[in-house]
Amino acid sequence: MTGPPLVVGISGSRRAGSYTRQAIEHALAVAERAGAETDHVDLGDVDLPLYHPDRSVEDSGDAADLLARVRRADAVIVGSPNYHGSYSSTFRNFHDYCGFDEYEDTVVGLLVVAGGGTIASPLDHMRVTMRGVHAEVVPDQVGILNASSKFEDGVLVDEAIADRIERMVEGVLAATRRRLLAAEHPVEVETEADD
Ligand SMILES: Cc1cc2nc3c(=O)[nH]c(=O)nc-3n(C[C@H](O)[C@H](O)[C@H](O)COP(=O)(O)O)c2cc1C
Repeated sequence: MTGPPLVVGISGSRRAGSYTRQAIEHALAVAERAGAETDHVDLGDVDLPLYHPDRSVEDSGDAADLLARVRRADAVIVGSPNYHGSYSSTFRNFHDYCGFDEYEDTVVGLLVVAGGGTIASPLDHMRVTMRGVHAEVVPDQVGILNASSKFEDGVLVDEAIADRIERMVEGVLAATRRRLLAAEHPVEVETEADD
């Protein structure tokens, strides 16, 4: 393989003390320890107007730069808070700027943070929207319930959640390495249509 894989984290909360941001930072630290390079797109800290199909990306604040950072990624770990049983508008607004150019051939891991006890529906919704841009979403995913009890002073303190993040990141890196190896050593597979 040519070099370490690049894993980009995307945090879909604008809240100053966001647990989503803290969880994504934790996931990126795990990826770095496993040998990846990382970059964090913190959507709480960008100039990104509401997506408008009639306006060019170049005229849309930081959009062009953010999209370029996602295009460079071999893998993306996306985090969103649960807002009303789905993902946040902050995540969705950035996602509407994205398409096949950003996500085709990109491995994705999902993470959702909830104030209460529901994480299944936002994770399902993220999985569907990621399929829509042809990302390869790994099966392991992370849901953090009752988030305020899982972090202290900006740090994740829950071992079970830390283990889940570790497993999701391992899955993302394994799938990424398989993709990079396959790209380096393409194998021709004969199908009946070739006969
Ligand atoms: C508009 C809005 C809707 C929310 N809806 C839900 C919800 O349906 N279920 C839930 O468990 N928490 C809900 N929450 C709580 C957030 O998931 C929780 O505050 C979370 O920590 C926010 O993520 P952050 O810390 O990354 O900003 C909602 C919060 C907001 C602001």
